[in-house]
Amino acid sequence: MTDLTYIRVEWDNELAVVVVDRQDKLNALNAELISELGEVFDGLRADDNVRGVILTGAGEKAFVAGADIAELAKMDSLGGVRVSRHGQEVFRDIERFPKPVLAAVGGYALGGGCELALACHLRIASENARFGFPEVGLGIIPGYGGTIRLARLIGLGRAVELLLTADMVGAERAAEIGLVSAVVPRAELLERAKVLLRKVTKNGPVAVRMALESIYRGVDTSTSEALDFEASLFGLLASTEDLKEGMSAFLEKRKPDFKGR
Ligand code: COA
Repeated sequence: MTDLTYIRVEWDNELAVVVVDRQDKLNALNAELISELGEVFDGLRADDNVRGVILTGAGEKAFVAGADIAELAKMDSLGGVRVSRHGQEVFRDIERFPKPVLAAVGGYALGGGCELALACHLRIASENARFGFPEVGLGIIPGYGGTIRLARLIGLGRAVELLLTADMVGAERAAEIGLVSAVVPRAELLERAKVLLRKVTKNGPVAVRMALESIYRGVDTSTSEALDFEASLFGLLASTEDLKEGMSAFLEKRKPDFKGR
């Protein structure tokens, strides 16, 4: 990994904590920061020691307060397509990441910040978190997958309302509408994120990966193709050591020791 300006990675055994750290701009996403995010996830993908990733923002105020408005203000039409494509690609790689990614949202998750959280597989929020899509108030729309992923997660009606009104919602409301799965005190955010993610990483790593594959492929394809794909992955898992270990452990009344193969 080259020297990073806006992202740092911390470790807790099998978990990597990716911290977006541009606090003077509430962690707003400029082009360089998005490239760094892509680079970091590429490195973590290839690292067999990583079983799960927590994505969070530095400081008490923001997860990510959106795309960098100062940068967006300068773009022309072709530049706009490039900006959108760049963010979409990096966020898509996060969504298709083969290990679970959890967004720990401790403050503002606005515009591109909310889109980033949506690209993660799991989301929890601190009590002070605020979610919203201010884009239409700036004369633009979300361009990093938000218009697509929001509706898939919380339903069309609620997504349309949030995207068109540009209203912000607090953490409790975000939990009510399914935008996050838990609301926790700010001081406990990271620890609670680790507890939730470890509920996933204690399971068979290949099975977790295949579940992600099946879920996200399923969202993008017809039911019959998705069912074919699910059956193939189900069959593939029958040849893994993890399946033998998981089932033997159950039958022998002990905890499984998964090797991820
Ligand atoms: N892009 C660029 N800079 C941003 C930013 C963004 N999305 N969000 C915050 N900042 C910058 C502010 O310009 C300010 O910089 P400055 O100190 O150099 O003036 C700094 O971060 C602190 O933000 P500030 O607005 O002073 O904090 P606040 O507590 O008063 O307000 C927000 C917090 C989140 C409500 C407000 O910053 C905001 O509305 N941000 C933009 C959110 C947005 O529209 N995101 C979608 C972009 S498409």
